[in-house]
Amino acid sequence: MPYDFPAALASAATDTEAALDHLLTTGALQGPGDPPERLVAAMRHGSLNGGKRLRPLLLRQAAEVFGVPPARTVQAGLAVEMIHCYSLVHDDLPAMDNDDLRRGQPTVHRAYDDATAILAGDTLLTHAFGVLANDSLDADPAVRLRLVAELVAGAGAGGMAGGQMRDIEGETGFLTERAIAQMQAMKTGALIRASVRMGAILGGATDEELAGLTHYAEAAGRAFQLADDILDVVASPEVMGKATGKDAGAGKQTIVARIGLEAAQRQLGEMIHDALSALLPFGERAEGLRATAKFFAERQS
Ligand code: IPE
Ligand code: IPE
Ligand code: MG
Ligand code: MG
Ligand code: MG
Repeated sequence: MPYDFPAALASAATDTEAALDHLLTTGALQGPGDPPERLVAAMRHGSLNGGKRLRPLLLRQAAEVFGVPPARTVQAGLAVEMIHCYSLVHDDLPAMDNDDLRRGQPTVHRAYDDATAILAGDTLLTHAFGVLANDSLDADPAVRLRLVAELVAGAGAGGMAGGQMRDIEGETGFLTERAIAQMQAMKTGALIRASVRMGAILGGATDEELAGLTHYAEAAGRAFQLADDILDVVASPEVMGKATGKDAGAGKQTIVARIGLEAAQRQLGEMIHDALSALLPFGERAEGLRATAKFFAERQS
């Protein structure tokens, strides 16, 4: 039977959203005190608002290579998605990209205010690691610790947050094509890489298998941000659910800005080819990851 990508995407989204809905309540987020209602509402606004949930999907598909059932990947996928949502809440702030629209709705700082959006991002980030610490994720604490280390590497100063720093620095300087690729590998690629590696870790991958899937993830991650930059030029805000046509005006250093639209589109095709090549040793078991790489090349939103 051919792999049903739309069904897989919908299923990952449904499971991730149910887990978000369950966790993001004043009851489940308790500390020594009660979580403020406004903060929990802003966390929900920033995460339960119709994202594609591609990172939980990738995590699940990497685990599927090793026969792990999807239900066993939901908590780890939830943690990655919470980091991703926090990154978007902060990315949209006036001090960063200053965007009013995200996933077709007002951004968190527009619906609430800057301080609330900062704190909603902070708490999505913090509780993501609480999810990884919870023994409902995997009974083996060593597995959970490896997942923590992966997500730290993907989200931290050498990963997503560091890439965001380089992106902002780039607004007032010149980056070579190579430096742009490096920045993008960090700001977007690192979380995609972490998603795939976390799925592989849940599946008990060998070092060699992990290396092969990491190669896939790095190529797919580059392709993903390249597509985002192409869509900023060619797609409409209605379809994207966020502002488009902004990168050039904001002085964003993108591959599209550096080499032009046509060359960027060609490069996107090459990256997908590279990602697919890395999956060859995995045969049929990697059908899901293969379908997602193809989706990255073809996506319209
Ligand atoms: C948008 O990511 C931000 C980038 C890293 C380019 P997605 O396109 O995955 O956004 P959502 O989660 O579906 O809204
Ligand atoms: C965002 O890149 C990457 C993140 C780590 C959030 P962009 O700034 O291009 O993402 P969009 O276009 O706002 O979704
Ligand atoms: Mg940005
Ligand atoms: Mg942005
Ligand atoms: Mg963008």
